[in-house]
Amino acid sequence: MPDPENHPRPFEAGSNDRRGSGRDVLIDPFGRRIDYLRLSVIDACNYRCVYCVPECGIAPTPAQGRLSAAELVRVARVFAGLGVGRIRLTGGEPLVRRDLVDIAARIAALDGVRDLSMSTNGHRLGQQAKALRAAGIGRVNVSLDSLDAERFATITRGGRLDSVLDGIEAARAAGMAPIKINMVVMAGENDDELEAMLDFTRADELELRFIEAMPVGDAGETAATRRIDAAAILERVRVWGGGDLIPATTSCGGGPARMFRFPGGRGTVGVISAVSRHFCATCNRVRVTAEGDLLLCLGHEGAVSLREPMREGAGDAELAAIVRGAVARKPWGHEFDHAGAAHGVSPNQMLRTGG
Ligand code: 5AD
Ligand code: SF4
Repeated sequence: MPDPENHPRPFEAGSNDRRGSGRDVLIDPFGRRIDYLRLSVIDACNYRCVYCVPECGIAPTPAQGRLSAAELVRVARVFAGLGVGRIRLTGGEPLVRRDLVDIAARIAALDGVRDLSMSTNGHRLGQQAKALRAAGIGRVNVSLDSLDAERFATITRGGRLDSVLDGIEAARAAGMAPIKINMVVMAGENDDELEAMLDFTRADELELRFIEAMPVGDAGETAATRRIDAAAILERVRVWGGGDLIPATTSCGGGPARMFRFPGGRGTVGVISAVSRHFCATCNRVRVTAEGDLLLCLGHEGAVSLREPMREGAGDAELAAIVRGAVARKPWGHEFDHAGAAHGVSPNQMLRTGG
């Protein structure tokens, strides 16, 4: 249970209101404006990263359980109508879905969508970046946990480093910006590569983010026991940079990363510390899984199905009311503890929740 001393009280349950222009906006019980949706388009992935998927894999949802392209676009439209102008397509791996370019184009064209992005493992980005950019995906986050091909294959259980590097190049050539590189840091696995990764990203206007392994799902719980603290990571960055860290604002939309400018370079570096530094206070997001479950917080099990009402014939206004009602019950935050265990945390897997 949240410690009442450290958690603000909800000020007005269900206070989703209209602010400013008369458009609907989503405000949660703690006064947080929800304007960012992470929409998972598929819960399958062609990689099985050690911190995300158990060795045996995860059974994918049967096809009829997944939202169709039309349903995904509809979910995006309902959120856009509620003032959620920023949408990130996630997975699993979004590019495993064959109709992704079509889905992206239809979402990008929706009224009220002003920023469409994607998180990807980069494996198929080389072939698809140009079409995705043309469809309206302006920027991507790419997972890259090692610059050593063999080690990369071990961490991703079969991933190909050269494909991902090609994908990053293709995204750049297609004009996507910024390109964010996410590295989950694990002791004894890739923590000796922080400096190499900094060298790799510094020159190229890439935004590097080191991520503390989070205890989400079984694989995450195991990985989180090898978590390296954000403070220790930042100290390494400081030494590498030969001095001070210059705080930078994130280029897009106030996410949970603490960012710094590269001394003498064009890129930025940041740390996402889910465990050691709660970012719940400024949480601006909700997630929808590939099966159409609205998740209000990574650290809680509560889910509200949007698929069922959609398939039972609900109209957009009815769906919007369901979303508003759910956001009015958004919990304060997660309770990952410092030993890396997840107290009262859901068995959500990143593969399903989209990170
Ligand atoms: N801890 C931290 N980040 C994770 N991701 C997946 N699983 C975890 C975890 N246990 C994130 C990584 C990866 C993205 C797809 O999801 O950032 O790059
Ligand atoms: Fe796939 Fe991303 Fe999970 Fe790796 S972290 S298995 S690339 S969804």
